[in-house]
Amino acid sequence: MGRPVHDLYNRPLRDLRISVTDRCNFRCRYCMPAEIFGPDYPFLPKDKVLSFEEIARTAAIFAELGVTKLRITGGEPLLRKDLPALIQMLKPIPGIKDIALTTNGVLLPKFAAELKEAGIGRVNVSLDSLNDKTFRYMNGNRSSVQAVLDGIEAAAEAGLQVKVNMVVQKGVNDQDILDMAAYFRARRHILRFIEFMDVGNSNGWRLDDVVTKQQILELIHKETPIEPAEPLYKGEVASRFRYTDTGEELGVISSVSDAFCSNCTRARISAEGMLYTCLFAAKGYDLRDKLRSDMTDKEILQYAADIWQGRNDRYSDERRNSTSNSSNPPKVEMSHIGG
Ligand code: GTP
Ligand code: 5AD
Ligand code: SF4
Ligand code: SF4
Repeated sequence: MGRPVHDLYNRPLRDLRISVTDRCNFRCRYCMPAEIFGPDYPFLPKDKVLSFEEIARTAAIFAELGVTKLRITGGEPLLRKDLPALIQMLKPIPGIKDIALTTNGVLLPKFAAELKEAGIGRVNVSLDSLNDKTFRYMNGNRSSVQAVLDGIEAAAEAGLQVKVNMVVQKGVNDQDILDMAAYFRARRHILRFIEFMDVGNSNGWRLDDVVTKQQILELIHKETPIEPAEPLYKGEVASRFRYTDTGEELGVISSVSDAFCSNCTRARISAEGMLYTCLFAAKGYDLRDKLRSDMTDKEILQYAADIWQGRNDRYSDERRNSTSNSSNPPKVEMSHIGG
């Protein structure tokens, strides 16, 4: 490893989240509502999207700056052609210890074995309900529950560690919290409940739609006692809990009610090669420009190091009194930045 960099709050750079496409085969209402992301939506043309070579070069530069963990996101990353080939290019980069994927799961039956072989260790699969009607409502009627469950099973069979992400929206799927908890506890997959976030500009977020970490935990604890578990590492996004009797784990990602910016070690690259230092950033830095210029790796490394060293983002900590999205400045869309 080269020289680890720290930002203005002394947070090191450890994780790089790489979005490999801005497209998705779902239209989740909280992320890519169909009314906005319709047939005329200007998705990125191919030549504007980073190539595998450009992504691998970027990852190697960031590894020099201290990154040890790569997360592949989208849109839906499995829509990117030949994704396992990219994983094979990322795997040998010195310093990279963990390569994970966040996916909606429906293409896992096709790709799980190949991904595992290429070097992916674990996948996080999004599933918001076990009720088909609710799930279809939430994903813009693009997928059944069973298709995602098949994906989860295929991943587990291929030897990938699986975690399940459930975005909880009041009045939409909060009645499914206990069913989801029981189902994935029985199958020993870690389920993480995610507070609905005010990310992007198009999901109509309101504070009233958020079910808080405390509310979720109380609900589960009443049914089956749980206790806090130690974080696996500093800066972990989810707070961990386990069932007191048999010890299976669950998690909550509470970016609204209990923000975790003070330990945030994550940088993000969008599919077209913009670097963002916060999920809620309005402004990114054009890396693609640099990668396609005659700049050397060393010069690009210095450019990225300067950006991280000047970073002072703590959006979720600062959100405070904001109760709807309209009062905030424009932010980058979730499907662009990869969550
Ligand atoms: P693990 O490495 O398995 O812990 O993954 P992860 O939870 O970091 O990644 P995943 O892609 O599964 O994201 C789960 C949820 O956490 C998504 O809703 C992300 O948008 C959210 N999330 C991830 N990183 C951050 C962050 O830095 N800030 C905020 N506010 N939310 C984040
Ligand atoms: N709030 C919380 N989580 C979200 N995700 C997408 N949009 C939102 C939002 N507005 C989740 C997806 C996926 C992860 C990458 O981010 O469900 O699990
Ligand atoms: Fe696609 Fe994931 Fe966004 Fe849903 S949350 S639209 S699956 S990128
Ligand atoms: Fe990091 Fe921004 Fe998320 Fe805070 S809101 S944890 S600074 S990405």
